Amino acid sequence: MKEIYKQILEKALPLYEKGREGDVEHIKWLYKIVPKFADKYEIDFDILIPVVILHDIGYSKVSKGSNPMNLDTRKLHMEEGAKIASEILEGLKYPKNKIAEIKRLVSKHDNWAFGDNYADEPVLRLFNNFDMLWVLTKEGFIFYQEILGKSSIDTYHQIEKDVEVEHKEGRKWFNQKIEEFYKQLMKEHKEGFYV
Ligand SMILES: [Fe+2]
Ligand SMILES: [Fe+2]
Repeated sequence: MKEIYKQILEKALPLYEKGREGDVEHIKWLYKIVPKFADKYEIDFDILIPVVILHDIGYSKVSKGSNPMNLDTRKLHMEEGAKIASEILEGLKYPKNKIAEIKRLVSKHDNWAFGDNYADEPVLRLFNNFDMLWVLTKEGFIFYQEILGKSSIDTYHQIEKDVEVEHKEGRKWFNQKIEEFYKQLMKEHKEGFYV
């Protein structure tokens, strides 16, 4: 990982600590995992990685305990996040044209909730796969289960349904490696529930 990505992460983490519960783990997991599934000849990592690190930073401006499923909350954290993202990147003297693109993507990273299928947005298509897959990590699953107020098994089935909806709305797996990763995570969860 480039030094500049680490610097962005260092600037971002204190704000995530003030933001939504679970987001420090959310961001650290994405930062570690997303690059493993992306091809740097296909996707510009200088856009992708800052988007991954900064996308939910707007929750530091949203009152604690707000329901992240609420559409107004979604909009607000994207708008605020875009502003904070550009401030952080400007402070680090990140290339100006890249800042503009990162800001644009942060401001629409959750537009899937408004039906966007990211047809012309490869970075967001890839990113969105993992933003979703986070609910299959240990911390992410607990977070999602609490929001839903459901049992483990029902949460598992809800995730299955969520993936079906994603596909129906045109947000498919970015590549086969990600699809296999999803299947592996689901299998691990299933084994965890039934043993
Ligand atoms: Fe978000
Ligand atoms: Fe996220």
